[in-house]
Amino acid sequence: MNVNRKAGEKLVHELLEQLELNLDGSLDVYSSLKYPNVEDHQRLGEFFKNGFEALDPGVDPGSTDAIVNHVRGQHKREQVQAIVLAASSLMLCMDSTNRRKVGVDFCGGRGVVGITLAALFPEWDIVVLDLKPGALKLVQTRNESLKLKNIKTWQGDVSQFQVDFDLAVALHSCGIAADLVLQKALIQRAPFVIVPCCTGAVVPQSAALLRVAMNKAMISSKTNESSTTNGLKNELQNENLTKNSSQEVAKIPKIPVSMPRSILFQRILNESCFCELAQAADFGQGELDMTKEYCWRRAAKTLLELDRIYACIDQGYRTLLMKIRPLTASPKNDMLVGWPKECERFSKLEEQITVDTFVPSISSLAESSKWLDVSESHFAAAHLQLKQFCADPSVTQICIAQGLGSVARKAAHAAAESLELKHTSTGKGNRRSVLVEKQVMSPLEIRFRGYIGFFGSKIESIAKLALSKNVVPESALNQRLRLRGSEFHMTLCSSIDIKQYGKANEVLDRCRRQLSCAEITVLGIGCVEEKIGLSENKVYFVVVQCAAAQNLRLNLGLLPFDFHITLGFDVKDIHGVRKDRSTIFYSFL
Ligand SMILES: C[S@@+](CC[C@H](N)C(=O)[O-])C[C@H]1O[C@@H](n2cnc3c(N)ncnc32)[C@H](O)[C@@H]1O
Repeated sequence: MNVNRKAGEKLVHELLEQLELNLDGSLDVYSSLKYPNVEDHQRLGEFFKNGFEALDPGVDPGSTDAIVNHVRGQHKREQVQAIVLAASSLMLCMDSTNRRKVGVDFCGGRGVVGITLAALFPEWDIVVLDLKPGALKLVQTRNESLKLKNIKTWQGDVSQFQVDFDLAVALHSCGIAADLVLQKALIQRAPFVIVPCCTGAVVPQSAALLRVAMNKAMISSKTNESSTTNGLKNELQNENLTKNSSQEVAKIPKIPVSMPRSILFQRILNESCFCELAQAADFGQGELDMTKEYCWRRAAKTLLELDRIYACIDQGYRTLLMKIRPLTASPKNDMLVGWPKECERFSKLEEQITVDTFVPSISSLAESSKWLDVSESHFAAAHLQLKQFCADPSVTQICIAQGLGSVARKAAHAAAESLELKHTSTGKGNRRSVLVEKQVMSPLEIRFRGYIGFFGSKIESIAKLALSKNVVPESALNQRLRLRGSEFHMTLCSSIDIKQYGKANEVLDRCRRQLSCAEITVLGIGCVEEKIGLSENKVYFVVVQCAAAQNLRLNLGLLPFDFHITLGFDVKDIHGVRKDRSTIFYSFL
């Protein structure tokens, strides 16, 4: 894809900075779902444990005629398994006893996702939708041996589909088709799991085409002309699949379509910069490997998906940005999951979400050469092993990557670094390995994350105390969790301060020498707000004082700072405003 590298890289870094995603390892906006109740669901529990071996061999997406290559087949399995498991957690929240539910595999191709869902959930009707009759023919051929009664096909464009449904899934829906699927789900107030691909294809068609497609769909259903004119009516003639009546369609709210799509991104990005971003985000497997260019182009893809995520949040959706694991399953491995906030039946999912720190900060990746030749799959394996090590309180050190090559050892060092573990090389020859040790945390840790801040148990307990007052809305806490992870901090010197002073290492060293036993006085909980488009963005924080830190700033020639610990925000943090006593609405004094 032809992309102006310098401009693309600059744009990505500017955006990361504006969204504060480069300051504290924050491209780990990725979340995970602990799939609820899968063990209770017999078929699903087995699928969860044993993958496609638990199902009829005809369901396996890795062994169809279309897949001749073993590795490709394995990747397809991993992709399908990831999307199906995420979809399952939504499906398990919906009760199908009164009415059969309808799931649509949009851009379903030969139905790899749709067939798996139909096999796992016989109480659901699954529609595989695609533009290409040839692909849908393959769905029918595959089903000849499977004899699944609950699978249907629908041929045509996504925008033309006018059947009510309860769940939208789409694996590798190309460019604008992913936006059309999201639009369909938002209009239906249905939950969705979407893995978009080909972001460059978004560019030439742009918002105007998307609007035209949606309008056409509205008009065709208002005149009540069936869009299922391609000989496919028969497929969908099932009393449980009801077509939107013209009256119902008239009631459907028109959801504005623009590029960027979200209020947040519209504030910071015009349409032409958005197109640049989409081009930067378009890259294929192995094209770039772990080069610096890979890092900022991956960041561009994540930003693009974040815009989609925020557009759904604007429409009252609860959303997750997830990753297909292993990361090698596909270069297009961002998975968007969402459900309408007003639907209580999905509320149990809230407790199942964890913010994942699996993906290292893209900016730290891009800035630090030590990451550049780290293999993603070795990194993934080492990271998983070290996460288990961190979770086990009975061990304080572990040797990993023993007997493996230098690439695996480098990845092990990188994984340990990303988890802030101490790591050293040990052993000789084929006994070389990486010794990883847990660091003994002092109550007040001083760390560099682009800014310098206090971390550790003292900061965590101040935040916990403030949260126990229940005066900060849960949605604001969740938004912070999503963007920043679970750790709290108190900034001592911002990235701007460090730029002004010039020598980050010297500032860090002075902070560590002079502030490791500093006193912190908690004053109260403060709030500041701003308008973002039509909505309000409130930021909540603990207002604190630290005389030693203020003195150190003075000695460094820096201005006094309103020390605080951010607890939550509706959309994003606000900087450059006072966060002092005057903002306190809940006092501790
Ligand atoms: C990359 S393939 C993915 C197929 C399948 N989901 C899979 O993962 O194997 C994308 C599919 O989307 C279909 N497609 C693209 N744009 C579409 C649209 N606007 N409406 C319906 N199908 C579309 C294509 O025909 C193609 O089969």
